[in-house]
Amino acid sequence: MKDRDRLVALAAEARKHSHAPYSNFAVGAAILASSGRIYTGCNVENASYGLTVCAERVAVFKAVSEGEREFEAIAVVTENGATPCGACRQVLMEFGDDIQVIVADAAGRQRTFALTELLPEGFTPDHLP
Ligand code: THU
Repeated sequence: MKDRDRLVALAAEARKHSHAPYSNFAVGAAILASSGRIYTGCNVENASYGLTVCAERVAVFKAVSEGEREFEAIAVVTENGATPCGACRQVLMEFGDDIQVIVADAAGRQRTFALTELLPEGFTPDHLP
């Protein structure tokens, strides 16, 4: 994907806005919609810990709230190149299984996964009657 480096750079930029005073684990995300538009997100923690929202979901929800429904790729940047949590994998799966997930660490080392690799046999809208 030719926009890969740009997507990672935007995720790294969004990571600077992370509100993570409890975990000190800053996460940034940038999702590329089929429209060509990119939406970013960071993790937003809360003193009531369970209310924390991951960076990936912030990016997806921003995009969906702007009318997007189809996505090509999401980049996620953390200190250590962690992969998205299970909840975020499921939220991405809602919008199709053909999404590339690019993870990068703070040094810029990248790995790319198919969403289906990260969430095999995932539950999708097609499973609903
Ligand atoms: N976090 C994310 O933003 N995305 C993930 O996929 C995993 C975890 C955040 C949530 C919390 O603010 C911090 O990382 C530590 O769990």
